[in-house]
Amino acid sequence: MRTPLIAGNWKMYKTPREAVSFIRELKTAVADVEGVEILLCPAFPALVPAAEAAQGSPVKIGAQDMYWEREGAFTGQVSAAMLRDAGCDYVIIGHSERRQYFGETDEAVARKVRAALDAGLTPIVCVGETIDQRRADQTAAVIERQVRGGLEGLRAREVAGLVVAYEPVWAIGTGLTASPEDAQQVNALIRAFVARLYDAGTAAAVRIQYGGSVKPANAASLMGQPDIDGALVGGASLKTEDFAGIIKAAREVRK
Ligand code: PGA
Repeated sequence: MRTPLIAGNWKMYKTPREAVSFIRELKTAVADVEGVEILLCPAFPALVPAAEAAQGSPVKIGAQDMYWEREGAFTGQVSAAMLRDAGCDYVIIGHSERRQYFGETDEAVARKVRAALDAGLTPIVCVGETIDQRRADQTAAVIERQVRGGLEGLRAREVAGLVVAYEPVWAIGTGLTASPEDAQQVNALIRAFVARLYDAGTAAAVRIQYGGSVKPANAASLMGQPDIDGALVGGASLKTEDFAGIIKAAREVRK
């Protein structure tokens, strides 16, 4: 049984102060929730206060990106060890906004995933097709290329412990959600591909989230799909009520 992971990707929103007051509210809202793993990914300056505010609660903290080198003269970059020491358990890698605006390649994703695992962080590896690729019937090919490229060089045991997030680019921040059936189809395809690359046990263990305009209203139907193991939530993770609503929907579905 895979524990669903509901993760909030705050992107470039919320100051350290705003992050702390959000987490205080969220802790109360989800105090009785069991069977769902809860994660928030604030911007770098908010990581330490967020991790302190979340201490002693089920809320875990992750980062939105990192660099693969351990340390050095890389102005503006942040290492996996720094994130670990800041209180992070997770790190999002290869988000479509990183690919689109900052030129992140599958090769860079693989190097970051390797470095994250070496530092004891759990990577959330994001994959997803654009609308043009979907219309041209290239979804499966694009996803396979991103999964193969992003997991390059990893051992089965490492893949079993990480998280893949399927996020169709056309569904991110647009209010357009993939239908539960379409999302399930791609998540199942990713799992089958992991089985081919590795083995059935690894495929059964790896958690595969869906992301792209997840809201309290559509969360239950998405989370009810057999191969959707949680959600990566952008916009709706910025309001306590919405994010708690998604967490509760995931819990209800798993009962
Ligand atoms: P959204 O973002 O929920 O605002 O569509 C999802 C994401 O980018 O992870």
